[in-house]
Amino acid sequence: MIDLRSDTATRPTPEMRAAIAAAEVGDEQKREDPTVNLLERRVAELLGHDEAVYVPTATMANEIALRLHGEPGDEVLAEESSHILVAELGGPAAHSGFLTRPLPGDRGRLTPEQIRTTANTFEDLHTPRTRIVSIENTHNSSGGRAWQLEEIRAVADTCRELDLRLHLDGARLFNAAVALDVPPSEIAAPADTVTICLSKGLGCPLGALVAGSAELMQRARRYKHFFGGAMRQAGIVAAAGVYALDHHVDRLAEDHARAKRLAEGLAAADLPVEPDEVETNFVQLDVGPIGLTTAEALARLREAGVGFSGTVHPTTLRAVTHLDVTDEDIERAIELAPGALTGALARA
Ligand SMILES: Cc1ncc(COP(=O)(O)O)c(C=O)c1O
Repeated sequence: MIDLRSDTATRPTPEMRAAIAAAEVGDEQKREDPTVNLLERRVAELLGHDEAVYVPTATMANEIALRLHGEPGDEVLAEESSHILVAELGGPAAHSGFLTRPLPGDRGRLTPEQIRTTANTFEDLHTPRTRIVSIENTHNSSGGRAWQLEEIRAVADTCRELDLRLHLDGARLFNAAVALDVPPSEIAAPADTVTICLSKGLGCPLGALVAGSAELMQRARRYKHFFGGAMRQAGIVAAAGVYALDHHVDRLAEDHARAKRLAEGLAAADLPVEPDEVETNFVQLDVGPIGLTTAEALARLREAGVGFSGTVHPTTLRAVTHLDVTDEDIERAIELAPGALTGALARA
């Protein structure tokens, strides 16, 4: 199968496996693992923050970051289909006792005006205090869309003005940086805390980091342990992260070009795909107009040898390009997908 379900599908390359095999390791809980320490320094520098803390998953990084910024009863504002709201099992409520307020977004983005008009920044005796704004870049549910730098800066300025903390779920921040052709720090520095994920476009088997000020990261290390994420000889996998920073960031442009080509090929075959909306490595396909349910469309594609996946939108499928997808895979998917989907229509 040509696996376009997610960029989490990658397997470590032989070179990454060699880096893993050669890793120097130590007790990570005691901060004695040189490879984890190196990875943390590299990521902090890339993101323009004092420190970064290595954790197993981006979900854990997000949940630790949010926990740092408030107390039970405080409110988090986030775009309604953001990962922290739709795919972390109520983590902000369960781990931190936060209320979450979902806001409608434009391509996954919130505006300063929305934040200004929604946030409860006064503290009377009846109103939950809005404390945190959480944004996502690239934004998964809107199809890997990337925020413009001015938009992030404007939101960050508003948060500062209103004394709100800004968290950036940058699980795919490097995709955004490559798409905008800016250093990752330009995107990450305006936020108080930032998550990045190594197991998506960067092709690592696991791992994520949360970055922020030295004071916040000292507390983050305590929550990492509290949430059960403090590890031992984690340099074994952190070595994959160091390798990926050296070899798998610039090449994300290839994933983006392949996603664009896929979108153009599918649109040329009259499938409901908008190539102009493809900014990074996601392609969205609306099966509603074809007259198929998501489940039917996914089954047909799979039968034809192409793996797409569903999204939070009831009739929208997505295809995601990544390290293990070649130009030939994309051309083959362009050949197979239209027949699988519109053939279904002809038979219906
Ligand atoms: C935007 C975003 N944030 C966070 C995550 C969580 O990543 P993980 O599976 O490493 O917990 C994902 C995973 O798909 C994601 O898309």
